Amino acid sequence: MKQISGSGWRSAKPRPFVAVFCTVLIRGLLMTAFPATALADWQALAMTDKPVATADGLMLPDGDAALTITVINDAVIRVRYTDKRKLALDRSFAVLPQKPYQGKLSVDVGSNTSTVRTPALRVVVQHQPLRLEFFDRDGRSLDQDDAEQGMARSAEVFRVAKRLRDDEQVYGFGEKTGRLNKRGMGLGGYHYTMWNSDTYGYDMSIDPLYVSVPFYLVLREGRAHGIFLDNSFRSSFDVGRDSRNRLSFGAEGGELNYYFIHGPHPKDVVARYTELTGRMPMPPRWALGFHQSRWSYYPEARVRLLADTFRSKRIPADTLWLDIDYLDGFKPFAWNREYFPDPAGMIRDLRQQGFRVVTIVDAHPKKEVGYRPYDEGIAGNHFVKNPDGSVFEGPVWPANAKKNPGNSVFPDFTRAATRAWWGGLHQELLEQGVAGIWNDMNEPAVWIPPSNTMPLNVRHENDGAPTDQREIHNVYGLLHTRATFEGLQRLRPELRPFVLTRASFAGGQRYAAVWPGDNTADWSSLRQSLPMLMGMGLSGFSFVGTDIGGFAGYPSPELFTRWLQAAVFAPFMRAHTEQATPDQEPWSFGAQHEAINRRAIELRYELLPQIYKVMEEASRTGVPALRPLFLEFPTDPQTWSRDDQFLFGADLLVAPVIVEGVSQRDIYLPAGDWFDYWTGALQRGGQTIRVPVSLSSLPIYVRAGAFVFHQPVVQHTGEMAGLPLQVDIYPASDSHGEWYEDDGESLAYQRGEQSRRTFRQQRDRHATTLTISASEGRYRPAARQLDLLLVGEHAGKRVLVNGKLLAQQAPNAPASVGPHWTQTERGLLIRLADDAKAMQISIQH
Ligand code: NOJ
Repeated sequence: MKQISGSGWRSAKPRPFVAVFCTVLIRGLLMTAFPATALADWQALAMTDKPVATADGLMLPDGDAALTITVINDAVIRVRYTDKRKLALDRSFAVLPQKPYQGKLSVDVGSNTSTVRTPALRVVVQHQPLRLEFFDRDGRSLDQDDAEQGMARSAEVFRVAKRLRDDEQVYGFGEKTGRLNKRGMGLGGYHYTMWNSDTYGYDMSIDPLYVSVPFYLVLREGRAHGIFLDNSFRSSFDVGRDSRNRLSFGAEGGELNYYFIHGPHPKDVVARYTELTGRMPMPPRWALGFHQSRWSYYPEARVRLLADTFRSKRIPADTLWLDIDYLDGFKPFAWNREYFPDPAGMIRDLRQQGFRVVTIVDAHPKKEVGYRPYDEGIAGNHFVKNPDGSVFEGPVWPANAKKNPGNSVFPDFTRAATRAWWGGLHQELLEQGVAGIWNDMNEPAVWIPPSNTMPLNVRHENDGAPTDQREIHNVYGLLHTRATFEGLQRLRPELRPFVLTRASFAGGQRYAAVWPGDNTADWSSLRQSLPMLMGMGLSGFSFVGTDIGGFAGYPSPELFTRWLQAAVFAPFMRAHTEQATPDQEPWSFGAQHEAINRRAIELRYELLPQIYKVMEEASRTGVPALRPLFLEFPTDPQTWSRDDQFLFGADLLVAPVIVEGVSQRDIYLPAGDWFDYWTGALQRGGQTIRVPVSLSSLPIYVRAGAFVFHQPVVQHTGEMAGLPLQVDIYPASDSHGEWYEDDGESLAYQRGEQSRRTFRQQRDRHATTLTISASEGRYRPAARQLDLLLVGEHAGKRVLVNGKLLAQQAPNAPASVGPHWTQTERGLLIRLADDAKAMQISIQH
C-alpha cells in the first residue's frame, strides 16, 4: 500500500492501465460527510485498462465498472461511473432527453493522459492517479479534481473532491439557508445536505429544507461554470467547510453522475443547466398577481367576506387560497360540505368579482373504504408498498381529523399509471372552477418519528426499475407535481396549469412554482428570504416566493409591511400564515399600514406588464426573473456577496428595507447610471449610496437605457384589457428593450399567438429617435393607447411620428383623446394609439 498523501488516502502500487487498484482509506472529510460509512474502506476510482474512445467521449474501464466522459454539447460534459452492464440503463428524474452530440469532438488517448475536446472545452484525464480537469478553449483551468482526493467510493457511497480556490465564489444548491455566496463569511464555507424535509418554523441555521437541487455554480474572475450531480439519493456538498480549498460532493447510493456546465457568463451556465433539466412553463398572468392565503379561510361566508373586503378597500388581488380545512376530515378531493355547501356556486361568484381560487391537494389520501381515492387506489395498485408487499400507511393530516381520524396511504408517483390516475382525480375540482392546485406535505411528510418521512425500505415500482425510498424520497414531490401538472394539462388542454409545491427536486421547475415552506415571522427570516430566492432562481426555479409575513408566529405591522414590499418583486407573491394566528390581510395592521400595503400591491399591478415579460424571458431562457447582482455584473466583486439587494430582470435594482426601525439604508449601485424609480433622479453607479427611508419606502433604481413597461393600477388581472401600455424610457445614447405579451392564459402563444416588439432609443445632440419594431407574432391586444415617457427629457421642441408632426398639448390642458405629446415634470410624454405596426418617432431639440 502506498500513501498518496498525508490525508490518510492509501492506494495499491500503481501499474499503468492494468489492474490499478487504488484502495484508499479516507478519514476526515468523508467521515463528516457520511458518518455511517466512516469506517468503511474507500476505494479511489482508478483505471484498470486503457481508456477507450467512444462515439461521444471516452470510457475509462475500472474492472466491471467504467467511468464515462460524454459530450452532451459543446459546453456540457457528463461524467458517470457505473457498472458496465448498466451503461445502457440510463434514467433521470431531472435531465430531459438530449439530442445526440453533432458537434466537433476529438478524443486523444495518450499514455499518461487522455483528452476530450469540443470547440469550447477540453477535458484532460490524468491516468495515474485518476484525475479530471476541465479547461476552456483558451487553456484556462476551470475545474479540477482535488489533487489528494479525486473520486472515491465505498460500497454504495461515492464522493468527488474538487479543488476550491480562494477567489472562487460558489452559488446555487436551490432552496438553502445561509448567504447567497456559499463561500460564507470569511470563506467559512457551508456543508449542505440534500434530503427533502418538513421543517416547520425553520431558522437560518436549518438544513436541509423541502427542496433538493444538487447544482452549484462557481464564479471566478467574472467567469462561471456549474456542476450538476444528477443523483436523487441523499447527497451532500461541502463548500470549503471541512477544508477551505476543497469542494466535495457525494451521495449515499446511485451513480456518480455529474454534468460539468461551461459558461463563461453565469447566465450561460443557468441557461445550459435549464436546457438540461427544463424550464418553468409560462405561468398564467393571474398567477403573477397578488395571492391571499392563510391556514385556513373557512367557511364560505368568511371567504366571501375576504373577497368583498379586497374589493371594497380597493386593494388589488387575483387569488384566494383554500388550505386543508376546506376538506372533509383533511381528505384530499373531498370538500367539507358543512363549510362549503356549494363550491361551484361560490367559485362562480368569486370569479365574477375577478378572483381565482386555488385549493390544496396533499399527497396523502386517507385509508378509508368507501372514499374514492382510496378505493380506486387499492384497485389500481397505486399505493407505495412495504417490503412485504402490504400497502404502507402512516399518519398525516387525516390522522388529526376531529371525526374518524385515520392513517393515510401514499400514491406511488414513480408509476406512470399512478400519475395519470392521480391527475385525473382533479377533474371535479376543475369542473367546480378551481383555477390552480397547491401540493403540500410531499417531502413526503409522514408523522413517524424520528425521520418524519417514509421508512427507507418502502418500495416504489418506478416503471420497471423497482427501487426504494432512498432513491425516491427526494423526487417524491417532483413526481407528485408532475402528476398534478400533467393532469391539469389533460383535463384543461387549452389553459396553462398552475401548481404550487413545497417539495421538489432539480427539474421540478417544469411542473410547479415553489414556496419555501414554513418560514418564521421574524426579521431574520425576511432577510434570509432574499438570498434563498436568488439561490433558487440560479438553480432553475424561477417561479418562487416566500410566505409574506412569515408562516410560524405572527409579524409586527412593520414586519408585515416590509415583507410585502420586498415581495412586490418576488415572482410568486402570496401572503400566508399558520393556523390560529390573528388576521393577516393587508388591512389587518391599522390604517397607516393598510395604505402603505395597498400601495405596495398596487405597484405590483402597475408593473405587471414588466413582470410578465421578464417571466416570459425566464421561461424561455432559464435566466431567473429575480437575479442576484452578480448575474448582471459578474466582474464586479462588490456584487459577489450581496444578500440584501437584487435585480428584477436586467433593469430594476431593488433594495427593500429589511431591517427593523431604520431611517436610512445603504444601497450599492453597480457601474453605470441609475435612476431613482420614484423621482427619476439620476444616480451615478459604482458606489454605495445612503438613502433616507420611511415606512413607505421601497427603494428601486432603474438602469440607464431601460424600457420599463407598466400600466395604471387594476384591481385584478381581468381588468387589464384596453388599458394604456405605458413605457418609461430611461436615457442612454443607444439602447433597446424587448416587449412581450400574449393572451395570458392559454397555450396559443406556443402557436404564434404572441406579440414581440423591440423598442430602441438613439440620441444625439439634435434629436432622440425612438424606433419601435412591428409586432412579431399574431397576438393583438384590445385597442389601447401607447404612452411613451422619455424620462428626464425636457429639451424637446418638435415630435415627428413616421415623419409627420405630432400635435403638442400644453402641460395642463384637459386630457386629450387624440395622439399628442406633452411636457410633464418627469419628462416628455408621447401619447399614441397602439397598433402593431413599426414606427419611428423623432424628438427634435
Ligand atoms: C404545511 C404547509 O407548509 C403550510 O403552508 C400549510 O398551511 C399547512 N401545511 C396546512 O396545510
